[in-house]
Amino acid sequence: MLTEQLRTTLQQMPKAELHIHIEGSLEPELIFALAQRNGVSLPYESVEALRQAYAFSDLQSFLDIYYAGASVLLTEQDFYDMTAAYLHKAAADNVRHAEIFFDPQTHTARGVPFETVINGIWRACQEGPISATLIMCFLRHLSEDDALATLDQALPHRDKFIGVGLDSSEVGHQPEKFARVFERARQLGLRPVAHAGEEGPPAYIESALDVLKVERIDHGVRCLESPELVERLVREQMALTVCPLSNIKLRVFDVMAAHNLRTLLDKGLAVTINSDDPAYFGGYLNENFIAAFDALPLDVSHARQLARNSFAAAFLGDEAKRAFLAEVDSFFEHAAADTVVNPT
Ligand code: ADE
Ligand code: ZN
Repeated sequence: MLTEQLRTTLQQMPKAELHIHIEGSLEPELIFALAQRNGVSLPYESVEALRQAYAFSDLQSFLDIYYAGASVLLTEQDFYDMTAAYLHKAAADNVRHAEIFFDPQTHTARGVPFETVINGIWRACQEGPISATLIMCFLRHLSEDDALATLDQALPHRDKFIGVGLDSSEVGHQPEKFARVFERARQLGLRPVAHAGEEGPPAYIESALDVLKVERIDHGVRCLESPELVERLVREQMALTVCPLSNIKLRVFDVMAAHNLRTLLDKGLAVTINSDDPAYFGGYLNENFIAAFDALPLDVSHARQLARNSFAAAFLGDEAKRAFLAEVDSFFEHAAADTVVNPT
């Protein structure tokens, strides 16, 4: 059961978000506003009609709508507005640092120049109000040559992003397909991550580690199907960026009470909680924490662990990481004890 005290602790604790697709933060209201601003016609009558379409049966059924929603993004200002809106929502959730995914191929395939995409997103990140860095994702349903061409386009902007990721339709698009582009990215000093074990089997997590040499696994919840893999992930303290509301909306688990988050924590895995595509899945980061803690046997010790894990797994320098971890410890040692419970 989630007490008011625990809910307030979850809301107020300092945290990092490590798995958020910026295109997945595009709210229906902003989709409609940008469609109007850019003269794009949408196959939905209203904001409500669009929201009604957000009933997904699996990852692909979501991706079809998500790519359609992103089609309203045309100008640098559009990318800026979307990113600024997310950063302000994250700040309100006491997110101190965010590592934000963006999908350039979704936009360059529509004729939007690469620099329009990255400059708009990056400028918003520079302005705050929280610390934010960017991870460029390759769409795994496209070819590796397309990913290599995207990495080439990104080179003049190398200073604007810190890592590369792999997202979109997982099953049938094994990590091995992207071995060369990830090798090239690593040589450029980019930090590698990949979605694996969301819908795909444990073997995809293993090849993300062995072939792509990733430093974090996005989702990874299917690792429990392989005890040997779990042992390895624990030994290497490989972070998993778990997204509870996403997993329910995309039917990875039937209901939140059936989510394996508590089991993952009990096994000693370096679990973090994240929002994935908050505009589509019913909530930003605090709503993910609250939904998970409401349905699962999780207490304040888990909250502290998850907050610590989020900074420990972040691609931050040692000094910044230490400072954020100290902030978490201080919050739980002092502030949490006399958290003011909001009576409303
Ligand atoms: N792109 C946006 N969200 C995604 C997810 N949950 N899995 C794979 N690709 C995505
Ligand atoms: Zn994702």
